[in-house]
Amino acid sequence: MNGGATAAARAHSNIALVKYWGKRDATLNTPAVGSISVTLDALYTDTRVTFRSDLTDDELWLDGCRSDATRVRRVLDLVRGYAASAGHPAGGQHAVVSSTNNFPTGAGLASSASGFAALVVAATGAAGLALPARELSILARHGSGSAARSIFGGFAEMHAGTASDGSDSYAEELQGRSAWPLAVAVAITERGEKSINSTIGMVESAATSPFYPAWLDSADGDLAEMRAAIAARDFTRLGELTEYNCLKLHALMLSTRPALIYWNAATVAAMHAVRELRSGGVPAYFTIDAGPQVKVLCLPGDAEVVRQALAAVPGVHEVRMSTLGPGAYRLE
Ligand code: DP6
Repeated sequence: MNGGATAAARAHSNIALVKYWGKRDATLNTPAVGSISVTLDALYTDTRVTFRSDLTDDELWLDGCRSDATRVRRVLDLVRGYAASAGHPAGGQHAVVSSTNNFPTGAGLASSASGFAALVVAATGAAGLALPARELSILARHGSGSAARSIFGGFAEMHAGTASDGSDSYAEELQGRSAWPLAVAVAITERGEKSINSTIGMVESAATSPFYPAWLDSADGDLAEMRAAIAARDFTRLGELTEYNCLKLHALMLSTRPALIYWNAATVAAMHAVRELRSGGVPAYFTIDAGPQVKVLCLPGDAEVVRQALAAVPGVHEVRMSTLGPGAYRLE
């Protein structure tokens, strides 16, 4: 074993309140629309990166299984570029990446978001680089657009950007997690891998849905309103806009050919349970990504009643409770 430069990092998953769907440039992985998310304390990825002179290629181990390293290689190539300029030996070496999630991988719980954010912090750490958070966010974006936001804690905003080199497509923190404590319940309705990954799904939506132009046109308005709701700590406004933006995304997905139907029966039942909670006076709002899980935002004092209501929904296997989480950081 040729022990090389190594570092480990933890990054938390995030869920978008105003969602990213659609790419401006597929090679640079720049988004067609900005997005706003909250980082989740309870769901995270731990990743170790070790650069070694004896390797002939990069290796990825995901939850103990050897996995396809194509996307990881894309990010590592960029890190190697920085390392080579800084004269670090990692610039000319391949790496072993081992990553573990504390939640089901690939089931719409944003494992790519936490995964690529952890990868970037661990890889740049192993390569002896101290890059500003904005650079880390850009590197993470090359792995997965949503990962750019998981570099930050609390509330984060990803900018779509306009530059042809992608240099203004990065996320930044809008508000720290302690400024406005919120709770998020994650109702897990399926543990398996999702059918169509987001990368493919969003390309299909752009190519086939007649709603895609409207999705693009209405994004800036949603972002401005969400920024205002967060700044004013107006939970009703934040929640209503979160649900509206989520359902607008799913209308876009449903109008894609072939249709992207990410919901199962329990997903729909959980949405109704949230609306019933609201009729009963509990402010709670759902959001759903490219998978069947339902994430519910509520105030910390209502977390237990929301957890119980979701756990009682037929088909909900488990409810994970979370507060808002921190940005990505080095372990050790
Ligand atoms: C529905 O970040 O997974 O979760 O950039 O192609 O890797 P790629 O896509 P990804 O898409 C996330 C889509 C979403 C909404 C969001 O997180 O904003």
